[in-house]
Amino acid sequence: MKGIFITFEGPDGSGKTTQLHKAAEKLRQMGYEVLESREPGGTELAEKVRSLVLDASLPLAAKTEVLLYLAARSEHVEKVLRPALATGKIILCDRFCDSTLVYQGLVKGLSKEQLAELRRLNAYACDELIPDLTLLLDGRTEVLAERRSLRGVSDRYEDKGLEFQRQVRTGFCTLAELEPQRIRVINAEQSADKVAADVLQVIRAVLPE
Ligand code: TMP
Repeated sequence: MKGIFITFEGPDGSGKTTQLHKAAEKLRQMGYEVLESREPGGTELAEKVRSLVLDASLPLAAKTEVLLYLAARSEHVEKVLRPALATGKIILCDRFCDSTLVYQGLVKGLSKEQLAELRRLNAYACDELIPDLTLLLDGRTEVLAERRSLRGVSDRYEDKGLEFQRQVRTGFCTLAELEPQRIRVINAEQSADKVAADVLQVIRAVLPE
């Protein structure tokens, strides 16, 4: 029995973490075994890497930043994600390779060749693991920014301002256009309950009977 690998992506403030928990709860009620995880993170070492990369007081060279995310991903895939898939679990993961392509790739204005290289590095780090489904929680930058300011959270990226967040949104939408089968766009501006219903509807389509 092979599990199902579902990732949640989107700009900061899109509500993906809340929605991931809601979906996990619902799926458990339906009798599925669910693993919730996140990137960077998911293992003790990867969580330590997370605190390094998200610490705005530690300036990172661009390649160091990429390699830290990928190091955390490699740990996570090998030690947590692959074993969970092998035992038939449904994995809901908060961010994965698409975030690297957006934050360390598209937003940085990398050339086509550099982006292709980043894709290869991603594939190397995650040993070619591709999500069965990716939910992109998308909404207007101003609306999501308003939510973020209400939450009062801040890290290396969240402090970068509206223009940065706009580029992040554009980056994710570009990826969704390239892979419409895998990446399904959900309107994150709706009420939390409506977003949860849309998320579940899309997930249902990939569940085993
Ligand atoms: P989170 O707040 O959604 O958990 O994500 C933490 C931050 O990490 C978010 O601002 C995006 C960033 N990030 C990257 O820049 N590259 C990556 O590969 C991942 C997984 C996250």
